[in-house]
Amino acid sequence: MSNAVKLRADQLEIVRSGKKVLGGISFDVASGEVYALLGGNGAGKSTTLLGFLGLLPLSGGSIFVNDIEVGSDLKKVREAIAYLPESVSLYEHLDAYENLRYFLQLAGTPYDRSKVEAALDRVSLDLESRGRKLTGYSKGMRQKVAISLAILRDTEILLLDEPTSGLDPAAIDEFHDLVRDLASSGKTVLMVTHDVYGACQVADRIGLMQDGKLVGEFTAADGERIQTETVHRAFSDRHPKNPQVA
Ligand SMILES: Nc1ncnc2c1ncn2[C@@H]1O[C@H](COP(=O)(O)OP(=O)(O)OP(=O)(O)O)[C@@H](O)[C@H]1O
Ligand SMILES: [Mg+2]
Repeated sequence: MSNAVKLRADQLEIVRSGKKVLGGISFDVASGEVYALLGGNGAGKSTTLLGFLGLLPLSGGSIFVNDIEVGSDLKKVREAIAYLPESVSLYEHLDAYENLRYFLQLAGTPYDRSKVEAALDRVSLDLESRGRKLTGYSKGMRQKVAISLAILRDTEILLLDEPTSGLDPAAIDEFHDLVRDLASSGKTVLMVTHDVYGACQVADRIGLMQDGKLVGEFTAADGERIQTETVHRAFSDRHPKNPQVA
């Protein structure tokens, strides 16, 4: 059971605005596994997550969540997934509790104040801020509310698009601990990041994307983490600085 495949892309192709932005990518993520998608701007990372959510039509291949072909039962698929988007949109005129109440209600998840406090503790959102409108929040504080929303959904699968964006180094470390704990409890995490070091710290596998293709995959050896230098080198080799114009 612990090795059950939860997410699977098979030769996935997606066209956006007439351009093929995913050119046939295949990978899977098992329960209890953390998979990080790494790649340059426009590589297709966020598009891949949108594919799993059934938010974009496929131009080829197939995509499965819990062995359900995504297009065949969107309701079931979305119930199984908590999604943290690249640009978080919370309500500025509401405080953290009110935002969480609203979005949990939308997702059909019961609001439990003690669980909410525990989730906000987990992301270290300071107590005094929790009852304040988000207008006075920093970017990282908003991100903390968004992360707490994703964990409060208590779904089997989490899709996280640049979750550490805006977080300070201490909050990033805490976030990585949180993701490892989620994976230990059997959750499946597919996350997008630009942070090679962070990806190596947290992921069991890293997929390197470039121009809509998966061009490399790195797997952690038993009981070890993926080597930052190896991934960094592969990334830099494919993304040279000051590329020559042909
Ligand atoms: N809303 C959209 N409409 C049309 N094309 C889009 C849209 N969003 C992204 N694209 C295109 O799809 C391709 C992949 O974009 P995507 O957002 O998946 O990249 P990404 O890897 O997440 O990049 P980043 O690291 O900058 O977030 C890009 O060529 C981009 O121009
Ligand atoms: Mg993106």
